[in-house]
Amino acid sequence: MPFPPPTRGLVRLPDVAIQISPSILSADFTHLADEAAAVANSADWLHVDVMDNHFVPNLTLGLPVVESLHRVADLPLDCHLMIEDPDRWAPSYAEAGAGGVTIHAEAAKAPVRTLRTIRAEHARAGLAINPATPVEHYAELLPELDMVLLMTVEPGFGGQSFLEMVVPKIRRARELIDGGGGTVRLQVDGGVSADTIEQAAAAGADVFVAGSAVYGKEDPAAAVDALRAQAQREAH
Ligand code: DX5
Ligand code: ZN
Repeated sequence: MPFPPPTRGLVRLPDVAIQISPSILSADFTHLADEAAAVANSADWLHVDVMDNHFVPNLTLGLPVVESLHRVADLPLDCHLMIEDPDRWAPSYAEAGAGGVTIHAEAAKAPVRTLRTIRAEHARAGLAINPATPVEHYAELLPELDMVLLMTVEPGFGGQSFLEMVVPKIRRARELIDGGGGTVRLQVDGGVSADTIEQAAAAGADVFVAGSAVYGKEDPAAAVDALRAQAQREAH
Protein backbone atom coordinates (compact mmCIF):
# COMPACT_ATOMS: atom_id res chain seq x y z
CA MET A 1 0.00 0.00 0.00
CA PRO A 2 1.48 3.41 -0.89
CA PHE A 3 2.24 5.65 2.09
CA PRO A 4 0.24 8.84 1.53
CA PRO A 5 1.64 12.26 2.34
CA PRO A 6 0.01 14.30 5.11
CA THR A 7 -3.12 16.12 3.96
CA ARG A 8 -5.97 17.84 5.70
CA GLY A 9 -9.28 16.05 5.88
CA LEU A 10 -11.32 17.59 3.12
CA VAL A 11 -14.78 17.28 4.62
CA ARG A 12 -15.59 20.76 5.81
CA LEU A 13 -18.41 21.36 8.27
CA PRO A 14 -19.77 24.72 9.34
CA ASP A 15 -17.57 25.87 12.18
CA VAL A 16 -20.14 25.16 14.85
CA ALA A 17 -18.60 25.31 18.31
CA ILE A 18 -20.63 22.42 19.68
CA GLN A 19 -21.49 19.43 17.50
CA ILE A 20 -23.99 16.66 18.26
CA SER A 21 -23.65 13.23 16.67
CA PRO A 22 -26.65 10.96 17.36
CA SER A 23 -25.73 7.27 17.38
CA ILE A 24 -27.93 5.11 15.18
CA LEU A 25 -27.00 2.14 17.37
CA SER A 26 -29.99 3.21 19.49
CA ALA A 27 -32.25 3.75 16.47
CA ASP A 28 -34.73 1.34 14.90
CA PHE A 29 -32.62 -0.72 12.47
CA THR A 30 -35.68 -1.59 10.38
CA HIS A 31 -36.11 2.13 9.52
CA LEU A 32 -32.59 3.52 9.29
CA ALA A 33 -33.38 6.06 6.56
CA ASP A 34 -36.28 7.49 8.60
CA GLU A 35 -34.18 7.51 11.76
CA ALA A 36 -31.43 9.44 9.97
CA ALA A 37 -34.00 11.89 8.60
CA ALA A 38 -35.41 12.45 12.09
CA VAL A 39 -32.25 14.29 13.18
CA ALA A 40 -31.12 15.67 9.80
CA ASN A 41 -32.14 19.25 10.59
CA SER A 42 -30.89 19.34 14.16
CA ALA A 43 -27.69 17.26 14.36
CA ASP A 44 -24.25 17.84 12.83
CA TRP A 45 -23.25 14.23 12.19
CA LEU A 46 -24.79 10.78 12.22
CA HIS A 47 -22.67 8.46 14.39
CA VAL A 48 -22.36 4.93 12.99
CA ASP A 49 -20.96 2.27 15.34
CA VAL A 50 -19.21 -0.51 13.44
CA MET A 51 -18.51 -3.50 15.72
CA ASP A 52 -16.91 -6.79 14.66
CA ASN A 53 -17.52 -9.09 17.66
CA HIS A 54 -13.73 -9.30 18.16
CA PHE A 55 -12.50 -5.89 19.27
CA VAL A 56 -15.77 -5.57 21.21
CA PRO A 57 -18.25 -8.29 22.23
CA ASN A 58 -20.98 -7.11 19.88
CA LEU A 59 -21.70 -7.22 16.16
CA THR A 60 -23.51 -4.39 14.42
CA LEU A 61 -23.10 -3.35 10.80
CA GLY A 62 -20.44 -2.88 8.17
CA LEU A 63 -19.62 -1.40 4.79
CA PRO A 64 -22.80 -2.28 2.86
CA VAL A 65 -24.98 -0.53 5.43
CA VAL A 66 -22.64 2.48 5.53
CA GLU A 67 -22.80 2.70 1.72
CA SER A 68 -26.60 2.56 1.84
CA LEU A 69 -26.85 5.12 4.64
CA HIS A 70 -24.54 7.45 2.75
CA ARG A 71 -26.96 7.39 -0.18
CA VAL A 72 -29.96 8.42 1.91
CA ALA A 73 -28.65 10.43 4.86
CA ASP A 74 -28.47 14.22 4.70
CA LEU A 75 -25.83 14.32 7.44
CA PRO A 76 -22.16 13.36 7.17
CA LEU A 77 -21.53 9.90 8.60
CA ASP A 78 -19.28 9.77 11.66
CA CYS A 79 -18.04 6.16 11.44
CA HIS A 80 -16.64 4.77 14.70
CA LEU A 81 -14.79 1.56 13.93
CA MET A 82 -14.71 -0.78 16.93
CA ILE A 83 -12.95 -3.47 14.94
CA GLU A 84 -9.69 -5.35 14.83
CA ASP A 85 -7.31 -4.52 12.00
CA PRO A 86 -8.62 -1.00 11.28
CA ASP A 87 -5.47 -0.45 9.19
CA ARG A 88 -6.96 -2.83 6.66
CA TRP A 89 -10.59 -1.74 6.76
CA ALA A 90 -10.75 1.98 7.62
CA PRO A 91 -9.88 3.31 4.13
CA SER A 92 -12.90 1.49 2.66
CA TYR A 93 -15.24 3.41 4.97
CA ALA A 94 -13.77 6.69 3.74
CA GLU A 95 -14.16 5.49 0.14
CA ALA A 96 -17.76 4.53 0.93
CA GLY A 97 -18.46 8.20 1.61
CA ALA A 98 -18.06 8.56 5.38
CA GLY A 99 -17.47 12.16 6.45
CA GLY A 100 -15.27 10.97 9.28
CA VAL A 101 -13.60 7.67 10.10
CA THR A 102 -12.40 6.99 13.65
CA ILE A 103 -10.09 4.08 14.45
CA HIS A 104 -9.20 2.76 17.91
CA ALA A 105 -5.72 3.43 19.26
CA GLU A 106 -5.78 -0.01 20.91
CA ALA A 107 -6.40 -1.77 17.59
CA ALA A 108 -4.34 0.18 15.07
CA LYS A 109 -0.85 -1.11 14.27
CA ALA A 110 0.09 1.62 11.79
CA PRO A 111 -2.00 4.61 12.86
CA VAL A 112 0.00 7.25 10.98
CA ARG A 113 -0.39 5.43 7.69
CA THR A 114 -4.06 4.66 8.29
CA LEU A 115 -4.98 8.18 9.41
CA ARG A 116 -3.21 9.65 6.37
CA THR A 117 -5.01 7.23 4.11
CA ILE A 118 -8.37 8.27 5.59
CA ARG A 119 -7.57 11.93 4.92
CA ALA A 120 -6.33 11.13 1.43
CA GLU A 121 -9.77 9.63 0.80
CA HIS A 122 -11.29 13.01 1.76
CA ALA A 123 -12.66 12.03 5.16
CA ARG A 124 -11.81 13.44 8.56
CA ALA A 125 -9.49 11.21 10.57
CA GLY A 126 -10.28 10.31 14.18
CA LEU A 127 -8.52 8.37 16.93
CA ALA A 128 -10.63 6.69 19.64
CA ILE A 129 -9.23 5.99 23.10
CA ASN A 130 -10.77 3.57 25.60
CA PRO A 131 -11.39 4.62 29.23
CA ALA A 132 -8.22 2.96 30.57
CA THR A 133 -5.92 4.15 27.77
CA PRO A 134 -3.91 7.33 28.50
CA VAL A 135 -4.33 10.10 25.92
CA GLU A 136 -0.74 11.28 26.45
CA HIS A 137 0.59 8.20 24.61
CA TYR A 138 -0.91 9.58 21.41
CA ALA A 139 0.13 13.24 21.66
CA GLU A 140 2.49 12.80 18.70
CA LEU A 141 -0.45 11.86 16.51
CA LEU A 142 -2.33 15.16 16.95
CA PRO A 143 -1.07 16.67 13.67
CA GLU A 144 -2.44 13.61 11.87
CA LEU A 145 -5.89 14.00 13.44
CA ASP A 146 -9.10 15.92 12.89
CA MET A 147 -10.71 14.44 16.01
CA VAL A 148 -9.90 12.62 19.24
CA LEU A 149 -12.71 10.42 20.58
CA LEU A 150 -12.59 9.71 24.30
CA MET A 151 -14.75 6.73 25.22
CA THR A 152 -16.78 7.45 28.34
CA VAL A 153 -17.95 3.82 28.55
CA GLU A 154 -16.22 0.58 27.64
CA PRO A 155 -17.08 0.26 23.95
CA GLY A 156 -19.55 -2.32 22.74
CA PHE A 157 -23.05 -1.34 23.79
CA GLY A 158 -25.39 1.61 23.94
CA GLY A 159 -27.24 2.59 27.08
CA GLN A 160 -24.34 2.27 29.55
CA SER A 161 -23.56 4.74 32.33
CA PHE A 162 -21.10 7.58 31.77
CA LEU A 163 -17.74 6.85 33.44
CA GLU A 164 -16.82 9.91 35.50
CA MET A 165 -13.25 8.63 35.79
CA VAL A 166 -12.75 9.87 32.20
CA VAL A 167 -13.50 13.53 33.03
CA PRO A 168 -9.91 14.38 34.09
CA LYS A 169 -8.72 12.84 30.81
CA ILE A 170 -11.11 15.09 28.87
CA ARG A 171 -9.42 18.06 30.58
CA ARG A 172 -5.94 16.72 29.79
CA ALA A 173 -6.88 16.07 26.16
CA ARG A 174 -8.25 19.63 25.87
CA GLU A 175 -4.95 20.99 27.22
CA LEU A 176 -2.93 18.89 24.76
CA ILE A 177 -5.08 20.03 21.83
CA ASP A 178 -5.01 23.70 22.82
CA GLY A 179 -1.28 23.47 23.55
CA GLY A 180 -0.73 22.25 19.99
CA GLY A 181 -2.68 25.23 18.71
CA GLY A 182 -4.63 22.86 16.54
CA THR A 183 -8.22 22.61 15.48
CA VAL A 184 -8.63 19.01 16.52
CA ARG A 185 -12.15 18.21 17.71
CA LEU A 186 -12.65 16.44 21.04
CA GLN A 187 -15.51 13.94 21.00
CA VAL A 188 -17.00 12.00 23.91
CA ASP A 189 -18.99 8.82 23.37
CA GLY A 190 -20.92 6.74 25.88
CA GLY A 191 -23.55 7.62 28.45
CA VAL A 192 -23.84 11.21 27.22
CA SER A 193 -27.22 12.56 28.35
CA ALA A 194 -28.92 15.56 29.92
CA ASP A 195 -27.36 14.42 33.22
CA THR A 196 -23.76 14.16 32.00
CA ILE A 197 -23.22 16.41 28.97
CA GLU A 198 -22.52 19.54 31.02
CA GLN A 199 -19.56 18.06 32.89
CA ALA A 200 -18.11 16.74 29.63
CA ALA A 201 -18.53 20.16 27.97
CA ALA A 202 -17.06 21.97 30.96
CA ALA A 203 -14.03 19.66 30.80
CA GLY A 204 -13.48 20.62 27.15
CA ALA A 205 -15.34 18.21 24.89
CA ASP A 206 -16.92 19.81 21.82
CA VAL A 207 -18.47 16.90 19.89
CA PHE A 208 -21.03 14.75 21.69
CA VAL A 209 -22.24 11.31 20.65
CA ALA A 210 -25.62 10.41 22.09
CA GLY A 211 -27.52 7.21 21.37
CA SER A 212 -30.19 6.45 23.92
CA ALA A 213 -30.41 10.12 24.97
CA VAL A 214 -31.56 10.95 21.41
CA TYR A 215 -33.24 7.88 19.91
CA GLY A 216 -34.69 6.77 23.23
CA LYS A 217 -36.76 9.96 23.28
CA GLU A 218 -40.12 10.56 21.67
CA ASP A 219 -38.75 13.54 19.70
CA PRO A 220 -35.11 12.86 18.72
CA ALA A 221 -34.65 16.26 17.06
CA ALA A 222 -35.81 18.10 20.18
CA ALA A 223 -33.45 15.94 22.26
CA VAL A 224 -30.53 17.02 20.04
CA ASP A 225 -31.49 20.69 20.42
CA ALA A 226 -31.74 20.35 24.20
CA LEU A 227 -28.36 18.59 24.49
CA ARG A 228 -26.73 21.24 22.32
CA ALA A 229 -28.16 24.06 24.46
CA GLN A 230 -26.86 22.39 27.62
CA ALA A 231 -23.38 21.89 26.14
CA GLN A 232 -23.27 25.46 24.83
CA ARG A 233 -23.90 26.81 28.31
CA GLU A 234 -20.78 25.05 29.59
CA ALA A 235 -18.60 25.36 26.49
CA HIS A 236 -15.12 26.85 26.71
C1 DX5 B 1 -20.68 2.31 22.39
C2 DX5 B 1 -20.83 3.15 21.16
C3 DX5 B 1 -21.64 4.36 21.36
C4 DX5 B 1 -23.09 4.11 21.75
C5 DX5 B 1 -23.50 5.25 22.64
O1 DX5 B 1 -19.65 1.42 22.23
O2 DX5 B 1 -19.57 3.55 20.67
O3 DX5 B 1 -21.59 5.21 20.23
O4 DX5 B 1 -23.95 4.05 20.65
O5 DX5 B 1 -24.76 4.98 23.15
P1 DX5 B 1 -25.28 5.75 24.43
O6 DX5 B 1 -25.29 7.20 24.10
O7 DX5 B 1 -26.65 5.18 24.64
O8 DX5 B 1 -24.34 5.44 25.57
ZN1 ZN C 1 -19.58 5.11 19.09
